[in-house]
Amino acid sequence: MKETICNHLPRNFPWANGIIYYESIDSTNTRAKELAQNGAPHGTVLIAGSQTGGRGRMGRQFHSPAGTGVYLSVILRPGCSPEKLMHLTCATAVAMCSAIHRISGITPGIKWTNDLVFQRKKLGGILTELSLDPQTSNIDYAIVGIGINCRQQETDFPAELQSMATSLALCTGRDMDCASVAAAMIEALWEMDQKLLTEKHAMMEEYKNACVTLGQAISVCRGDVVRHGTALDVDEDGALLVRYSNGDQEFVTSGEVSIRGMYGYV
Ligand code: BTN
Repeated sequence: MKETICNHLPRNFPWANGIIYYESIDSTNTRAKELAQNGAPHGTVLIAGSQTGGRGRMGRQFHSPAGTGVYLSVILRPGCSPEKLMHLTCATAVAMCSAIHRISGITPGIKWTNDLVFQRKKLGGILTELSLDPQTSNIDYAIVGIGINCRQQETDFPAELQSMATSLALCTGRDMDCASVAAAMIEALWEMDQKLLTEKHAMMEEYKNACVTLGQAISVCRGDVVRHGTALDVDEDGALLVRYSNGDQEFVTSGEVSIRGMYGYV
């Protein structure tokens, strides 16, 4: 599989030697953290055929069966302060939209902050995790994990996900080759890494253009508290500006944001 992926990458691709393929693993993000703690270099890419403990945002599970999706993590060592990298999830989402467009022809949207969507259904998700160097408080390493549904038909998803999830095959009406999707994702991640600290503004403009949350009626859910409002803007660090029904405005950086009419929220 690694060889097939490499065959789809440009010749002398800088991260090619650092690609590691696992037939099955608990979570590529968890394994990437272990490797990073043991000194794995910037640009190490982990890909799995399936995950038994795929993780999503807010402690959720990411359904990761064999042969149907791409489950991938990359280790980055940008060597900067965490404040300079608040946009990492957004930058990754933009990069993945471009990879998906390149490989499939469809243009996905982004549901704030980390969901890739097409026609109001989830196509994939992103989980970024940072570890700081206790001495300098700079980033020791960042793990960027992405899962994209490639080949599923509707009944391949668990019943509770069928109305909310989609795949590249369902979106395009064509079968998709996971190896070429993985290669497009890796290449887009490398390109993102080249401009991560220098082209933040342009990346965030692209993010806002692709963000389907903006202008929508949403609810912000934190623990037991649910507030209703409208999503107005996304700032340069990826925070979502919300105007609540009582007129209050707030930059939201955490919690669950649901869009009315999407993923079963009415
Ligand atoms: C989400 O939907 O909240 C994020 C999902 C992220 C899933 C990917 S799959 C590869 C990597 N390994 C994991 O355990 N999670 C990420």
